[in-house]
Amino acid sequence: MDTEPGVEFDGRCVTACERCPDLVDSRSRIVNGVGPDDADVVFVGEGPGATEDEEGEPFVGRSGSVLDEALRDAGLARSSVRITNCVRCRPPDNRDPTTEELANCRGFLEAELRTVDPDVVVTLGKVPSQHLLGRSVAVTKEAGSVHDLRVDDTSLRLLVSVHPAATLYDRSQREGFFETIAAAARLGGVDVDGSDGGGQASLGDF
Ligand code: URA
Repeated sequence: MDTEPGVEFDGRCVTACERCPDLVDSRSRIVNGVGPDDADVVFVGEGPGATEDEEGEPFVGRSGSVLDEALRDAGLARSSVRITNCVRCRPPDNRDPTTEELANCRGFLEAELRTVDPDVVVTLGKVPSQHLLGRSVAVTKEAGSVHDLRVDDTSLRLLVSVHPAATLYDRSQREGFFETIAAAARLGGVDVDGSDGGGQASLGDF
C-alpha cells in the first residue's frame, strides 16, 4: 500500500518503518493495533511501553490491566474492541513521543481509523487527545466529552479519557475513568444488559 522505501503498511499494520531514528534504536519490535477490523470502539494510547515492546501488543502492562478491568466493568470484551497507539515504537526511557515522531506515525493511525470506521474513538490521555483534536487538552477536565473528528472524508466521534495509568498514580481518577469507559460502551452501541460483552455494565448518566 505504501510506496515509501523501507515502509511496509497494509492499511492497519506496519511491518517495516525507519522514519524515526531514536525509535528504531529503542524498539524491539513495531507494536500494531489489535482487535477486529470492524470494531465499534477503538482506543488510542500514546505509544508502547516496556511490556508492550516485549510482547508486541498495546496495553498489556499495568495500564492494560486497569483498561481490561474497566472494559469488563462496562460489558466490553477486550477481544471486541480495537486498541492502538499514536506511535507504534517504544520511545527511549518511556519519554513522550516528539511532535515529529507523532507526525511520522499519524498517517498509519489515520488509515487504521478510516478502515475500522468505529462508532467511537476513545483517546486515552493527553497525548492522543491533543494529537487527534489538534489543540491543547486539559484531559482531567475534559474527560467524558465527545467531539467530532474528521479523518479525510470519514466523520468519527471522539471521546476524551484520562490515561489508565493516571488511576495508578491518583486513585481518585479511577471512578471517572471507569465511567468514561462505560460511556464508550454506550456510544459503541454495546447492549448494556450484557449480551454483547457478557459483563455487568455501569453506565454513568453520560
Ligand atoms: N500506554 C500507552 O499509551 N500505550 C500502551 O500501549 C501502553 C501503555
